[in-house]
Amino acid sequence: MIVAGCISGTSIDGIDVAVGEFGGAADGRLTLRALGARTFSWSAQVRRDLLELLPPATTTVEQICRLDVLTGREIAAAVSRAIDEFAGGAADFVVSHGQTVFHWVADGRSQGGLQLGQPAAIVERTGLPVVSDVRSRDIAAGGQGAPLAGTLDVLLLHGMTPVIPRALLNLGGIANVTLSDGPLAFDTGPANCLIDATIAAATGGKQLYDESGRLAASGKVDRRLLTHLLSEPYYRLPPPKSTGRELFSGDYVPSGTGLSLPDLVATLTELTAITVAEALRPHGVREVYASGGGVHNPILTARLQHHLGTTGLLTSDRFGLPVDAKEGYLMGLIGYLTWHGIPGVLAGASGTLTGADHARVLGRISPGDAPLRLPDPGVRPVALRVVD
Ligand SMILES: Nc1ncnc2c1ncn2[C@@H]1O[C@H](COP(=O)(O)OP(=O)(O)O)[C@@H](O)[C@H]1O
Ligand SMILES: [Mg+2]
Repeated sequence: MIVAGCISGTSIDGIDVAVGEFGGAADGRLTLRALGARTFSWSAQVRRDLLELLPPATTTVEQICRLDVLTGREIAAAVSRAIDEFAGGAADFVVSHGQTVFHWVADGRSQGGLQLGQPAAIVERTGLPVVSDVRSRDIAAGGQGAPLAGTLDVLLLHGMTPVIPRALLNLGGIANVTLSDGPLAFDTGPANCLIDATIAAATGGKQLYDESGRLAASGKVDRRLLTHLLSEPYYRLPPPKSTGRELFSGDYVPSGTGLSLPDLVATLTELTAITVAEALRPHGVREVYASGGGVHNPILTARLQHHLGTTGLLTSDRFGLPVDAKEGYLMGLIGYLTWHGIPGVLAGASGTLTGADHARVLGRISPGDAPLRLPDPGVRPVALRVVD
């Protein structure tokens, strides 16, 4: 079954589409043939509008409506091109996460979230059924709705030998980890979002991220600012927990520090490296498999390796999933589970990985041009292997 999964993460840097062929087995061992993945740019206007929407900014219902439609159309174009390119124009369905514009956390719990990217536009363009809104059901059931990466990660980690504590880490806008110990999955805090926001603000939007860590490399970590940033209570909350750009917005970094841009970026890069390493430390993790755009920042990975000490820092390529494609395939997997009536969140140390008491089937399905026919329910997966 060929599934196109797509997501634009909290970095709002582009639409990641991954096309994969999933095979189910009666014993719960899934296979994934990774047919291909690509990141498509948002149009300059839509990207600008999305960035303008970020907290602490306010907006209008009109703007949300417009952006829902415009992002939906751009996602539709990206998905349709990826299906042509990687699957000869033929896929069974699409899974679209959309663009998160708000992750509502109150009283230490997710209460809801809003993703833009009108699925009807994707159905209209591709004629295919679309699974969307993949977080809401888990949140309604008392879960965090995030990170969903744990679903794929636990299946990838299954059966690895020797049996040692391992973690998968995604360095997107926010950083999330999945630990074999438990298992547990949670957001550790910022990965790139503060670095990106600081650079964008300082350059008036001319530069949007720290290409190859050049700014961080030329700056010096400011211990005072770092200590202040580390006093944020989120870092000490027990998992399951999730966060977003509402907490780690431009407001979290105090203005008027007098620091140069390189020093600020060096400090924020250090903050990510420390908070990720500290989150893993209590679990005795021996190997970390990283993915996400942060892997392309050699200063970030070097500082992370420094704080991880003797723990090995590798990448998701070890599992056959390129670092920039993993989240797209994750969406494909979540939709594949929904399509087969299987819960999209796995069991965790207590309840589910996201903190719901038990797992729910995720998402909504928009019918395609043909009548909607779902297969008989499948079995809960125990492992996933990427095959050639
Ligand atoms: N070559 C690079 N050098 C430094 N940072 C990079 C590079 N490529 C990507 N990044 C960082 O990764 C971010 C995108 O990561 P991604 O995994 O797509 O995050 P998200 O899932 O939030 O969209 C960019 O905004 C940037 O901060
Ligand atoms: Mg991205």
